[in-house]
Amino acid sequence: MIHAQTTSNKKGELVSELPAWQALKEHVNEIEKTHLRDLLHDEARCMSMIKECEGMYCDFTRQRVTQKTLELLFELAEQSNLRGKINAMFNGEHINSTEDRAVLHVATRAHRNQKIMVDGRDVVPDVWEVLDKIKAFSDKVRNGEWLGVTGKPLKNVVAIGIGGSFLGPLFVHTALRTEPVAMRCSRDRRLRFLANVDPIDVARALDGLDPEETLVVVISKTFTTAETMLNARTVRSWLTSRLGPEAVAKHMVAVSTNLKLVKEFGIDPENAFGFWDWVGGRYSVCSAVGMLPLSLQYGFDLMQEFLAGANNIDEHFKNQPYQDNLPVLMGLLSLWNVSFLGHGAKAILPYCQALSKLAPHIQQVDMESNGKGVDINGVRLPFETGEIDFGEPGTNGQHSFYQLIHQGRVVPCEFIGIVRSQQSVYLKGEVVSNHDELMCNFFAQADALAYGKTPEQLRSDNVPDYLIPHRVFTGNRPSMSIMLPSCTAYTVGQLLAIYEHRIAVQGFIWNINSFDQWGVELGKVLASKVRTVMNSARTRDRKILPQDGFNYSTTRMINKYLEGKTQ
Ligand code: F6P
Repeated sequence: MIHAQTTSNKKGELVSELPAWQALKEHVNEIEKTHLRDLLHDEARCMSMIKECEGMYCDFTRQRVTQKTLELLFELAEQSNLRGKINAMFNGEHINSTEDRAVLHVATRAHRNQKIMVDGRDVVPDVWEVLDKIKAFSDKVRNGEWLGVTGKPLKNVVAIGIGGSFLGPLFVHTALRTEPVAMRCSRDRRLRFLANVDPIDVARALDGLDPEETLVVVISKTFTTAETMLNARTVRSWLTSRLGPEAVAKHMVAVSTNLKLVKEFGIDPENAFGFWDWVGGRYSVCSAVGMLPLSLQYGFDLMQEFLAGANNIDEHFKNQPYQDNLPVLMGLLSLWNVSFLGHGAKAILPYCQALSKLAPHIQQVDMESNGKGVDINGVRLPFETGEIDFGEPGTNGQHSFYQLIHQGRVVPCEFIGIVRSQQSVYLKGEVVSNHDELMCNFFAQADALAYGKTPEQLRSDNVPDYLIPHRVFTGNRPSMSIMLPSCTAYTVGQLLAIYEHRIAVQGFIWNINSFDQWGVELGKVLASKVRTVMNSARTRDRKILPQDGFNYSTTRMINKYLEGKTQ
């Protein structure tokens, strides 16, 4: 059960009943009278909303807030016992109450000398035992001490996993692929991901790979996920049909909390890398889930910098006061946008191609964590939680969905820019470098959203009257801008941890359980029923029958599918 000190909200007392929530609701009227055009010219306000910490530059001035809004949000944090809940997380309390688990992904990036207790046991030595094993194994594979069954070095890695066992590692891999140090460390090596149960994904993941040179990492917290296990069996058969059954010992390793099932699958537990039930799947990229495939690709030493970046933000989150605490500020501002201004979506817009998988990763972390209908006590909420997250790197997104965010719906935007690019091109005769060109757009978009363009401005630009309504931009659209000095293993770790913690902040204040995911179960159960029925339909003329228990629509649709199959 959740410990009493974890939450000040009494059973049945919803966050929306707290005085600060009510005060914020009333405060919306005041904010509705403001426009960012004016707010951005209040110097004192702006200076208090620009934060430079941990090497990052964060500008919150384009949020539709005043200093009073922030004070009320901090008051809401107080009344919701945000600090108590953050401490409960770091102290290893079982804050994931529906699964009776601690939530300690922060332990997966703790320094060796830190102490983090779960159920009376310091787990940091366990974390480092696995990290040391990852280092030893990845070093051996990379330096050719560990060879394939035919004696060839294993230069390709296929990481099989889905959801949290895929999106985080893919995000980090994509972020580092063109970083100069990472490029030097990964010369001649290839890392591919296989997530979808779609055979097309299998074909693409294995395309052009020589099994003799390929190491397969099966990543699954439970080792029961249907898609991952089918893909693992498929790739095992790809290996053994070419190299014989003994290939599994040299070409397949696993990452899981379920070592019993790893063994039953046929992978020697010696070649398995464990983690723990207190690491949620979507929060697991710093455990062996990410550290094993990424260390094989880039080397353990570089990936340790990634852990150090995440750890830096963990300490910041734990220790900084609310007004200087980046995850707290981001979480509170998002909560303001969702719960008070009524904006249910947010766009994550990195002006950096290397961060192209940030939005898909955060989409899972955020939407699986905070898309809930009841509070931690099981009381149905009278308001909606969570946000719809989407995003693309700039400037590509500008030529896709920015029309809607400039003149259609209001979607709070999060711009992420980089000061020193991983790659530099400065063409002779051009006014600015390619990276400067990218960043010109980063700076421009935030102001375009905030200021908009008025009919008066359009008239003075000689726009004909009939076009004026079409060309007006109302502006007053909120955004925040974050600039990282560079996109390296360290800063990618920082960025990851900022997003993880801001999501927790929102969940703590909404007083929901951000760490379970019961909502994904129903679909899995129904898929399993379809699987059973489809299997028995093979023996009876490839047809499912009304008595199989599906409704008219599903029965007909499945039969149409079975009819059209050629094999
Ligand atoms: O999508 C549901 C989910 O349980 C995620 O939370 C998890 O990351 C993913 O499936 C994969 O689970 P596993 O790592 O156990 O295969």
